[in-house]
Amino acid sequence: MDFKNKNVVITGASTGIGFATAKAFIEKEANVLITSRSQENLQKASDKINSANLKTVVSDTANLEGIALLEKAVAESGDKIDVLFLNAGIAVFTSIEEVTEEDFDAQFNTNVKGMFFTLQKLMPHLNDGASVVFTSSTVATAANSGTSIYSATKGAVNKIAQIAANELAARKIRVNIVSPGPIRTEGLEKVVTTDEGKDYLASATALQRLGHPDEIAKTVLFLASDDASFITGTELLVDGGYTTYARK
Ligand SMILES: NC(=O)c1ccc[n+]([C@@H]2O[C@H](COP(=O)([O-])OP(=O)(O)OC[C@H]3O[C@@H](n4cnc5c(N)ncnc54)[C@H](OP(=O)(O)O)[C@@H]3O)[C@@H](O)[C@H]2O)c1
Repeated sequence: MDFKNKNVVITGASTGIGFATAKAFIEKEANVLITSRSQENLQKASDKINSANLKTVVSDTANLEGIALLEKAVAESGDKIDVLFLNAGIAVFTSIEEVTEEDFDAQFNTNVKGMFFTLQKLMPHLNDGASVVFTSSTVATAANSGTSIYSATKGAVNKIAQIAANELAARKIRVNIVSPGPIRTEGLEKVVTTDEGKDYLASATALQRLGHPDEIAKTVLFLASDDASFITGTELLVDGGYTTYARK
């Protein structure tokens, strides 16, 4: 996979899956621009990756002003984008009875509105033949109790990505979806706080373990690469068998 001097933009990459993917692209000598809501978190990520090819921009994807800051940074760079990884996302797990308007809006604004308008605003900056990858989740097709809003956001993401694959095909831009199962990230640690909770999630996979962010990063690099040249509009589950696992 050759990403040397390719321009990659990743939303939500101060930690977790986005961070691992930024690191993987940097190791392939790509130029990578990452976002998050926090300058401090971006600085920590930048210190860890420690590469002149990594740039950061504070951009809250949950509102159009934040997305405009990202667009401005891309426009000012003068470079067209070869890979756009729409990854920033949050989860709040609670029953329908207990969902608040604030939880509802925060998840839809970040996970759906954020990905949609980032794609829309960056579309003119994509090279023809570029690759776009959305982070969805196995929950987009499952119906686990306590995940109503989060799952609904990821269902919406899948549909937006599929339609984007059709609308962008004329420019030879491929659009795909990576749907992780349970992955040990800072984000997962925030919503599944106990060892029992994490053990339970691991036991719900065929492979009996949580995934590593690097395992999602490798999939994103594959989808973004020429090795995936005939793959568009596809959802790739990277879930240790979570979706199909039948407990004995
Ligand atoms: N981990 C899993 O098990 C799992 C499974 C399925 C799907 N996913 C999906 O994978 C993606 C990444 O999750 P993760 O587990 O890697 O979580 P994470 O470690 O919490 O990473 C999320 C990243 O998004 C950033 N972010 C959050 N809200 C943002 C906003 N409004 N604007 C810009 N950046 C924002 C965070 O940075 P700041 O806090 O610095 O802003 C952080 O860099 C999400 O879309 C999530 O839904 C995760």
